[in-house]
Amino acid sequence: MQRIAEQFRLDGAVRTIAALGEGFINDTYIVTTDCARYVLQRKNRRVFADIPAMMRNIQGVTLFLKEKVRRAGGDPQREVMTVIPTHDRTLHYRDAEGDYWTMSLFIEGSVTCEAATTPELARCGGQGIGRFQRLLADYDAPLADILPGFHNIRIRFGQWDDSLARDAAGRRATVTREIEWIESRRDEMLRFWQRVEEGGIPLRVTHNDTKINNILFDRNGGALCMIDLDTVLRSPCFNDFGDAIRTYANRGREDDEDLAAVGVDMAMFRGFAEGYLSEARAFLTPAESDALAFSVRYITYEQVLRFLMDYLDGDTYYKIGRPDHNLVRARAQHALLQSAERNCDRMRDTIGELLRN
Ligand SMILES: Nc1ncnc2c1ncn2[C@@H]1O[C@H](COP(=O)(O)OP(=O)(O)O)[C@@H](O)[C@H]1O
Ligand SMILES: [Mg+2]
Repeated sequence: MQRIAEQFRLDGAVRTIAALGEGFINDTYIVTTDCARYVLQRKNRRVFADIPAMMRNIQGVTLFLKEKVRRAGGDPQREVMTVIPTHDRTLHYRDAEGDYWTMSLFIEGSVTCEAATTPELARCGGQGIGRFQRLLADYDAPLADILPGFHNIRIRFGQWDDSLARDAAGRRATVTREIEWIESRRDEMLRFWQRVEEGGIPLRVTHNDTKINNILFDRNGGALCMIDLDTVLRSPCFNDFGDAIRTYANRGREDDEDLAAVGVDMAMFRGFAEGYLSEARAFLTPAESDALAFSVRYITYEQVLRFLMDYLDGDTYYKIGRPDHNLVRARAQHALLQSAERNCDRMRDTIGELLRN
């Protein structure tokens, strides 16, 4: 591991390397040298097919953000991720096993949260995500589409139909009720996505993994910096909003067996939406604002589908902690979806009110 760390242009000699964080996707380590701390990651080759293209995306976006932060009088080293290149100036190192390693600067004095515990924290998170989108709203350099079809429900239905036809794990007959949850909403979800396909909703630079542990807060709880930029893509900005609400505002856990505990916490929703809109109102079109409330249903529905599909496939994508874990997750996300359906008008009203003030 030390030999890998030494491939990168670090200040000072490597002293220690230790595991960091609880990410589901990459393996993350903290590297301490005489002069500074860094974050070393082994990127997940199963999820990302083209890691060099991903790193070029991250480099392009972070350099652009740093320039904006500098012009606004901020601190580009703390408010934006810094990619550290190797000695031969590539953005990744490939080891003998073919694994890809990357390095970035550890942001000192930052705090990560694993859950939104107060509406005020949700507001700060929303502001961080809104600001990220706002600062990138005029980024017009190319971005590689490193996750083709991500959040595109038409493509998901193609995978879903194949999965049902294959019935690889022989579980289809045991989940007919759950399959009906998907089928009964197929048309409304396609109609929503059609707004994007027909160009009514633009593609923007979005983060695409807006759970709360992908944002660093400062010690006062303010949003400092978006991290985990692996999934930066051009996609509708409601993806970031819907996915953030799915994680920030769920009263229960993603895999809660107590379905009564699961639901949209409207105070948390309001906090997040207030922070997000305080930044995003500067660029959102009326069609984009109009899509935000439904996006909570759209993204949560997609997650029900993905968990159920992985259960049908025999658990090949998500890590599981028990044999029926994906089914438990699908049921919990379905309970959240039903709550989002019941609260959709209230969410829409809250967004309208926040935009008028
Ligand atoms: N530059 C950084 N500065 C400080 N902490 C970081 C930094 N990058 C990552 N972390 C910490 O490591 C955790 C995992 O990193 P992340 O890039 O989100 O990996 P994953 O893709 O596996 O989720 C984060 O939640 C955060 O706590
Ligand atoms: Mg992460």
